[in-house]
Amino acid sequence: MDRMQEIYQQAQQYYIGGASAGQRYNAVLKQPLYIDHADGSHIWDVNGKEYIDYHCCAGASLFGHNHPRLRKAIGDAMEKGFFMNFDTAYHVELGRLLQQVFPSCEKIRLANTGSEATQAALRVARSFTGREKVVRFEGHFHGMYENIWFNHNDVHAADAYGEVETVPDSAGFPSNAKDNVVTVVFNDIAAMEHIAQKYKGEIAAVILEPLCYNCGCYESRKNFLEQLRALCTRENIVLIFDEVICGLRMRPGSAQLHYGVLPDMTCMAKAIGGGLPISAFGGRADIMSVLNPIGNTTVSGTYTGALIPVIASIECLKMALEPGFYDQIEMIGNRLYSGISSLFAQHGKKGHCRGVGARFGIYFGVEDPEDDFDFRKVAAAQDRAMYKKFVTECLPRGLWFHDTAGKVSPAHYGITSAHTVQDIDETLNKMDDIFARL
Ligand SMILES: Cc1ncc(COP(=O)(O)O)c(C=O)c1O
Repeated sequence: MDRMQEIYQQAQQYYIGGASAGQRYNAVLKQPLYIDHADGSHIWDVNGKEYIDYHCCAGASLFGHNHPRLRKAIGDAMEKGFFMNFDTAYHVELGRLLQQVFPSCEKIRLANTGSEATQAALRVARSFTGREKVVRFEGHFHGMYENIWFNHNDVHAADAYGEVETVPDSAGFPSNAKDNVVTVVFNDIAAMEHIAQKYKGEIAAVILEPLCYNCGCYESRKNFLEQLRALCTRENIVLIFDEVICGLRMRPGSAQLHYGVLPDMTCMAKAIGGGLPISAFGGRADIMSVLNPIGNTTVSGTYTGALIPVIASIECLKMALEPGFYDQIEMIGNRLYSGISSLFAQHGKKGHCRGVGARFGIYFGVEDPEDDFDFRKVAAAQDRAMYKKFVTECLPRGLWFHDTAGKVSPAHYGITSAHTVQDIDETLNKMDDIFARL
């Protein structure tokens, strides 16, 4: 028995599915991939097999693994006593840098996970408006809690105006959890106008991923975002951008700058910590002022603002803000994304790759890139069998494409600033062989 299987046997004694978290389980391997160590763009499993990493910690490791500057930052925090539950001058520096990348955040508060940040933003929006309903879009994901985890993973019935039946993505939710949630088709301003009139005066917030990598690379149409911005201003609805995964991913650092549309509130996580657990939410000063000690809305936590992730996050933001950072990301990304799309064409397979900045989706079976803007068209066209075969063939060749695709949406993958031209060329060479077998 190899070491991978040995650990799996042991892990099952303590963990359901042998995995410490549901998403660690890999349906292709039929167990988790147990890792020994990681460095730069590569990971090594416990059998010593090396992989080029295209999962990149679900987007957390934008700077690659084991980055010397992050090691140094962690070391600095160790020197100081790696405490938590206190604020420091480092926290001020982090706030300054976060505001530079996410300029709509006049005020900021820290948290630990993306799910925590979205929950906090929703609470603040409800407190500020005195309203309860939250509008979300099908396909978008905002964390795993009962009041918001709906319609990410499947297509459900929609009425003639684009309002979609709100359906949980997990069992175990109370039946009233969806009572304050309205689900709408995305990129359709007429549907949003209908919803704004139907629930006039009841909607606290509209939350969205301005670039939804959770459905591959499901982009907002710029004019949709602009019209949504105007609608929310007109109706006094708090517009929340969930930049948990798209934040820092593309030039010049956030989706709000990329599209030129500023939300009222923003949720940040993943890449801002470069692999250390930290998140944040922020927004307009008048909205954020509902938080204690000014207002009576409480958001806090024991681990919030712990020193190690705070100092690491400062380093991450500094790296992303340095000249040339996004030149490298774009050069590597475009080489990979255009290379994969060319392989579809060369091998006569339906599909393409769409990437923006450091993350991308592979659209097996979807011919027309215009369809990428439509969750329902992608869901209908997606070739799950081809996708499954692809990730299965990647594994033995040392390409780590974690099996993360939803029931109807393409998986999201990524690159880091540590990926090299050599990594990409090796990957495309191996993929040439894989595409021949699809
Ligand atoms: C857009 C978005 N929001 C929220 C979350 C939840 O973040 P976390 O897993 O850190 O709780 C995720 C995680 O994938 C995400 O992609």
